[in-house]
Amino acid sequence: MQQIGIAIAGFGTVGQGVYKHLLQNRALLQQRLGIRFAVHGIAVRNLRRKRLVKVPRALLTRDWKSLVEDPRVSIVVELFGGCNEARRLILAALRKGKSVVTANKALLAEHGEEIFEVTARYRAKIYFEASVAGGVPIIKALREGLIVNRFQMIYGILNGTCNYILSKMSRDGTSFAKALAAAQRDGYAEANPALDIDGIDAGHKVAILASLSNGFLMPFSKVHIEGIRSITPLDIRFARLLGYEIKLLGIIRAENGIEARVHPVLIPRSHILAAVDGVYNAIVVRGDVVGDAMFYGRGAGADATASAVIADISEAGLDRLYSTEMRPLLGPRGRGAAKIKSIDDVVSRYYLRLSVVDRPGVLAGIASVLARAHIGISSVIQPEGHEGKVVPLILMIHDAKYRDMRRALQQIVKLPTIRGRPMLVRVESFDVAPFDGGQDLRPGGDVS
Ligand code: HSE
Repeated sequence: MQQIGIAIAGFGTVGQGVYKHLLQNRALLQQRLGIRFAVHGIAVRNLRRKRLVKVPRALLTRDWKSLVEDPRVSIVVELFGGCNEARRLILAALRKGKSVVTANKALLAEHGEEIFEVTARYRAKIYFEASVAGGVPIIKALREGLIVNRFQMIYGILNGTCNYILSKMSRDGTSFAKALAAAQRDGYAEANPALDIDGIDAGHKVAILASLSNGFLMPFSKVHIEGIRSITPLDIRFARLLGYEIKLLGIIRAENGIEARVHPVLIPRSHILAAVDGVYNAIVVRGDVVGDAMFYGRGAGADATASAVIADISEAGLDRLYSTEMRPLLGPRGRGAAKIKSIDDVVSRYYLRLSVVDRPGVLAGIASVLARAHIGISSVIQPEGHEGKVVPLILMIHDAKYRDMRRALQQIVKLPTIRGRPMLVRVESFDVAPFDGGQDLRPGGDVS
């Protein structure tokens, strides 16, 4: 039996989950991998903190550098989070030729260039399955199971907290603030939930997925991000009336350039993602060979995330024992190798909610601005109100470039009958890609 030494840096929820399951399933891992993993140290910030798992006191240290220096340690598991100490630790471990396993999406998305450059220079390896969608093995699916595919589209629910909030608002009709408070009470959202609800966490994940699927490093600053703070129960009610649910989605689309974006979306209630409720994550991958494939599961939590981290530890262990070279990876490599599309050039349909004074000519004014911009209206709802009173007016808009829609909206809000802020949400159906029958193998039609 081969033994491989590991060190864990960071012993919060996920770190404790990793330690617990490494121990509990030790025999299973040995049987499946032929490797015995030995934890030689755990770096913590506070030695005295009460923890849910029992751990020998001698394993704990506040000095992560001693773990990186320890010659018995081959694999360093970074679970500090954040971009400061975690970055220093990872770079130090890679420079020592250790394999690094991390769940740190912010670090990869914002400092990926430096991390991957050092990884390559020192011929080290870094594994980051847990950085996207917790326990859902989407990274390995892209890098291994779907290796032959060009990824036309990857889209999905990448933030469990936002999905919990939107699901609750849709199911119970609660306000955003109440749904957020419930998410915090149930331990899903952070005390400072801005990373989740402003779409940044999902944006980090989109940057990683876009890099992997397109073979070049997608700068985080190029991901267009909108959060869910301004979604109201009224929007959810109108969306449902029109046959849609509102979800916060990450979307990567390769079509005349690469789109990488996170924002609320109206998706048809018949779409499989509309049924993904609560804190779950789900990702649809559209490959040119496989067609559509969907991955669903827990995107956070100690156990689910530990499952992904231990998968990486296992892969790192096997790589250290049996492979001397980098296995061919699907990116990220190279810079700016493809054109990244500006959000202004992205075409979609829209849901537009305006607050208007119910007065003759209101609709005509709005329609004429849209007509001048060559933007079509596909449907209009205005609940019956009283003349002269403020009422919501919902317009469903045909495909339009965001630049045109944005400019038209700037003019619409200047009309004298418009009150308050407009609400603009993109509408996507993600129609199933027509499978080109000509590509299928047919008798006598061998590819030569
Ligand atoms: N806070 C994230 C979520 C989990 O709510 O999905 C970690 O990325």
